[in-house]
Amino acid sequence: MYFYGTTGVNKDGHLEIGGVDAVELAKNFGTPLYVYDVALIRERARGFKQTFEQQNVRAQVAYASKAFSTVAMVQLAEEEGLSLDVVSGGELYTAITAGFPPEKIHFHGNNKSREELEMAVDQKIGCIVVDNFYEMELLKAICLEKQVKTNILLRVTPGIEAHTHDYILTGQEDSKFGFDLQNGQAENALTAALPFEHFNVLGIHCHIGSQIFETTGFILAAQKIVEKLAEWKERIGFESEVLNLGGGFGIRYTKEDEPIPPSQYVSEIIKEVKKLAGEYLLKMPEIWIEPGRSLVGDAGITLYQVGASKDVPGVRKYLAVDGGMSDNIRPALYQAKYEAVFANRPLAQASETVSIAGKCCESGDMLIWDLPLPEQEDEDILAVFCTGAYGYSMANNYNRIPRPAVVFVENGKATLVVKRETYEDLVRYDLPLK
Ligand SMILES: Cc1ncc(COP(=O)(O)O)c(C=O)c1O
Repeated sequence: MYFYGTTGVNKDGHLEIGGVDAVELAKNFGTPLYVYDVALIRERARGFKQTFEQQNVRAQVAYASKAFSTVAMVQLAEEEGLSLDVVSGGELYTAITAGFPPEKIHFHGNNKSREELEMAVDQKIGCIVVDNFYEMELLKAICLEKQVKTNILLRVTPGIEAHTHDYILTGQEDSKFGFDLQNGQAENALTAALPFEHFNVLGIHCHIGSQIFETTGFILAAQKIVEKLAEWKERIGFESEVLNLGGGFGIRYTKEDEPIPPSQYVSEIIKEVKKLAGEYLLKMPEIWIEPGRSLVGDAGITLYQVGASKDVPGVRKYLAVDGGMSDNIRPALYQAKYEAVFANRPLAQASETVSIAGKCCESGDMLIWDLPLPEQEDEDILAVFCTGAYGYSMANNYNRIPRPAVVFVENGKATLVVKRETYEDLVRYDLPLK
């Protein structure tokens, strides 16, 4: 049995998280319920930040809020001294509503609208990560109209795609994001941006993938970009103040996953960038990173009430819960895998293998295949681990299922941070035919 962060078993034999009994949480707040271990989020944030600080490297650790964006989460990110990566007007609005300092917000996205860019410029956010030529022209027009100067990074695709243990080197990357580094697009973008007096080009950004367990991909990306930076210094006179290597640091969803600690990613990245800056006689850039799942993923648990079961003799047994792809679409979307226990008896011996089905009207709505569990009893609450990233943020109202509540737990205290949706919420924006 693997327990994350403050998760463990209390004296009643129940699952406990943040010093709070998970069965009590289900009783008090209902199910499905997203529960976050705040201490673990703080520990992860400090893990990233302290490594930069200990090595005296100027850095920003920007929480990629797409992983889980709510007012309380953004406020927690601020408490921990993180910057914030947003990718839409909605995430930006959430950050501003939470009172997050605008100068620490970075705005991503491959198709930001005029309205979103204007909002970012009006809020004087820290920087806009320009993704393509269309956006560059739009942002130039906005900055001219408003007579303001904006910090920008240029997003490049360095020709490295990294996934878990594999990374693929490609001449040109087939991606909807960013300016290609190899074919001259990135240089064209730079030379289009530099003379524009309402831009301050801070540096270069890349994001090579997700759930990455090795540092090789980040190191290769840094090498390719720094090589180019050296060329650009020589030919264009541009020196990058910032090198943003994105997010994608892997976490443990199941026993097959063996992530390395945040400090190791950071240390190896720092070592490589220092070496490259020395070799190419470049000023050491500030290093920015954008962890999403590695800050909040394993801090989240979803609690479900177990309901119907169906035995297909000789084939499999299905056990259905009161949520599913409406609160966690990752298994259906990309075959994501999870582990789970009964929160009311996490240490009970498994006696059968069951597959956990959601309640949506979709045969693909399966949360976990082939999970060893004790035989089901009426009061069972299923706790699915590691649902903190891209769970709530991808939740939806398929089958008109209201989205669950979110609770933060820390030091024995549970705080409701997102209310459960109601049926009234579901029809709030519907208008009658007549
Ligand atoms: C630009 C960018 N930065 C950061 C992230 C966060 O990735 P992760 O949650 O895997 O750390 C993403 C994820 O898609 C991204 O696109």
